[in-house]
Amino acid sequence: MTALSLKNVNKSFGEVHVLKDINLDVDEGEFVVFVGPSGCGKSTLLRVIAGLEDASSGDIHIGGDHVNLTPPSKRGIAMVFQSYALYPHLTVRGNMSLALKQERQPKSVIEERVQKASQMLDLGAYLDRYPSELSGGQRQRVAIGRAIVREPKLFLFDEPLSNLDAALRMNTRIEIANLHRQLGASMAYVTHDQTEAMTLADKIVVLRDGRVEQIGSPMELYNNPANQFVAGFLGAPSMNFFPGTLLTPGDTRTLGIRPEDLFVTDDGPLTVRVGHVEHLGGDTNVVAYAKDHQITARLFGQHDVRPGGDLRLGFRTDSTYAFDQHGARVI
Ligand SMILES: Nc1ncnc2c1ncn2[C@@H]1O[C@H](COP(=O)(O)OP(=O)(O)OP(=O)(O)O)[C@@H](O)[C@H]1O
Ligand SMILES: [Mg+2]
Repeated sequence: MTALSLKNVNKSFGEVHVLKDINLDVDEGEFVVFVGPSGCGKSTLLRVIAGLEDASSGDIHIGGDHVNLTPPSKRGIAMVFQSYALYPHLTVRGNMSLALKQERQPKSVIEERVQKASQMLDLGAYLDRYPSELSGGQRQRVAIGRAIVREPKLFLFDEPLSNLDAALRMNTRIEIANLHRQLGASMAYVTHDQTEAMTLADKIVVLRDGRVEQIGSPMELYNNPANQFVAGFLGAPSMNFFPGTLLTPGDTRTLGIRPEDLFVTDDGPLTVRVGHVEHLGGDTNVVAYAKDHQITARLFGQHDVRPGGDLRLGFRTDSTYAFDQHGARVI
């Protein structure tokens, strides 16, 4: 069965057309990630799915049911926001039980689900604490716990990790991936962080200016981007783009090369002036210039490269991408 289906979904706020003809099917148990730059409509899309906003047109099905007119509480969804919005006067247990109490679930059911969720999230020792007595990561886990106990058909996450520091973000990302495996639940997750998208998703939806640019598995999008926007958005550091004029005079095509596909070689076709070097230990990121054009190379291992020096870079022709003047991929 399809966990979520969107057919020609549009959303306008007055004159502002924010979501444009969104079509998407998410299978049961699938983890779909909406990714795109700030303001492209990710949160609006999630809020439309949740029922916190009405779609201006189009159809939304959750678990096979047409839900356009169904209130959020009856859609079988649970949402986790960036701001965890825990109730400060309730303990962890109180926060996690609240929605179930409002649903008038029997005490034994509430107790059992809170127990199970707190075990999964390693919160067992904190059930009687108040949110102010928890770390940011623990609070975010409580917010996720609040969603789990409701046993929704579909989990909705809106940038749940962006308030956490880098190390905690990675840990929590792994926890969410594990949780997805354990629960086998369908999840829709919003982020502007391409690493989160690549590592969590079964299916990525790249949005730009309210439109779907491409849908596919992380590796499909990385290996086979439909256009220059997707190619530049996924992968870190971002793909390098060379105007055709820089390489073969007169050609209007843009050539794309990923930083990890460049390597140092004495007879490389690109002579660059090194501008900045990041020694990461396992890798070395070099930001360099050919004429005024900036090029980033991600070199494997450690290199004694210094700003101001020259470097010859090579690449394999089968690791390049070509785009026309409108940014569409040319094969
Ligand atoms: N209630 C509203 N009224 C008018 N415009 C709105 C409203 N809510 C959102 N918008 C506009 O819709 C667009 C998409 O907003 P949205 O919050 O969905 O973006 P986003 O992709 O989640 O961005 P971010 O990554 O910054 O969270 C923005 O241009 C925003 O200004
Ligand atoms: Mg948002």
